[in-house]
Amino acid sequence: MTGKFTSISEAIAKGKGEVAIRGWVYRERGSNELKFLVLRDSSDIIQCVLKKEKFKKQWPGIDKLQVETSVEIHGTIHEEKRAPTGFEIQANKINIVGESNNFPINKSLNEELLGDRRHLWLRSRKMTSIMKIRDTVLDAMREHWHKKGFYEYHSPSLLGMQAEGGSTLFRVDYFGKPLYLSQTWQLHAEAGIFALEKIFTIQPSFRAEKSKTSRHLTEYWHAEMETAWENFDYLQDDAEELIKHVVSRVLRERKPELEIIGRDWKKLEATLKKKFPRINYDDALKLLKEKKKISIPWGKDLRTIEEDRLSELFDTPIMVRHYPKIVKAFYMKEVPGMQKGKEVVMGFDMIAPEGYGELVGGSQREESIEKLKKNLRAQGEDPSKYEFYFDTRRYGSVPHGGFGMGVERVISWICGLETIKDAIAFPRTMTRWSP
Ligand code: 4AD
Ligand code: MG
Repeated sequence: MTGKFTSISEAIAKGKGEVAIRGWVYRERGSNELKFLVLRDSSDIIQCVLKKEKFKKQWPGIDKLQVETSVEIHGTIHEEKRAPTGFEIQANKINIVGESNNFPINKSLNEELLGDRRHLWLRSRKMTSIMKIRDTVLDAMREHWHKKGFYEYHSPSLLGMQAEGGSTLFRVDYFGKPLYLSQTWQLHAEAGIFALEKIFTIQPSFRAEKSKTSRHLTEYWHAEMETAWENFDYLQDDAEELIKHVVSRVLRERKPELEIIGRDWKKLEATLKKKFPRINYDDALKLLKEKKKISIPWGKDLRTIEEDRLSELFDTPIMVRHYPKIVKAFYMKEVPGMQKGKEVVMGFDMIAPEGYGELVGGSQREESIEKLKKNLRAQGEDPSKYEFYFDTRRYGSVPHGGFGMGVERVISWICGLETIKDAIAFPRTMTRWSP
């Protein structure tokens, strides 16, 4: 075929005259004399009409055309109010590129079967829209940090030690030796800041989560930052600015996609306008007791259900800070001067509105090697595996900190998804590892 192909959205933007497009048959219906094809490409969908009288020789093939056949079409485009995107192409040439028979996706499939056919389900308008939003989210994260002078820096995924507690470690047989898949880049990031000072990454983290929830993956993308010389307030400011920037880019660039997936995007506007409340753990317990009649003994972590109840009180993300030391990771810095048994740490969780759970976890890092060792031993860890990490405190230690943001958690919330699995093309959970 001759002629220059454009995307469907470019053809629609042109609105009249000759166009050439290519894509996949999204819907088809026909009569004796006519065939209507709705074609999709990555940009949009459009209705095309083929008249039998124009395609006498090709008609048997056209008549049999099924969903997901790939085709090239030349024709003239015009406005047509009744067509799905308001325009229609009268075809005068068609080239069938790849046939498709009995495409095994239809409305009757349940979540499990759609999961088995994920490689084909990706072509749906829902998944295509979410994947475009994901692209914008990742680009916005990089843009935010690059503008602030951060360097992108990566850490290994195969590690000899844990950072977030042993219960969610995946073991790997590494030439006969046991290693783990990394839960976070953090320990190696803390080494990197002594060279680059401000760094970030977006890379997979792994958690052997035995829970089947709508917000846990076993492999998820983790956007993390670490900075030298900064303090606890700065970290929270950066996390808030980052979320605001991501939401603002999505609202600016991806409203059509949010509409396609049926997200009430107005619910995201408060996040742009308001400052996120910063609440200490003690006050979170008080709020839960007063407003939600939930009593939590001091020293217990907030569970999913309690985070959800708390988030119902706000229409923006909130930061909960100063958690009891015993519920948090070994590397979090203690708030000085606390009473014995009531030690809290300079750590924060950002909790999403609408019950989407923890988006971000971060902290100021402990600098005392003695305290780090003590915390590790209390968790049953062997401090001798962490010698490289202690070196970061031995040679020119500086106050520093960072946080990690679950990319799929953020996408889930922004898109209003029922399950985090739809925030990634090929999800991995305890019960799902293929395709
Ligand atoms: O709170 P977490 O465990 O913090 C850390 O890993 C720190 N080392 C980060 C840092 O300071 N550099 O995990 C950070 C975020 C959580 O807030 C959550 O959004 C996400 O990672 N997350 C998960 N997302 C999807 N599936 C899971 N199983 C997740 N576990 C944590
Ligand atoms: Mg956390």
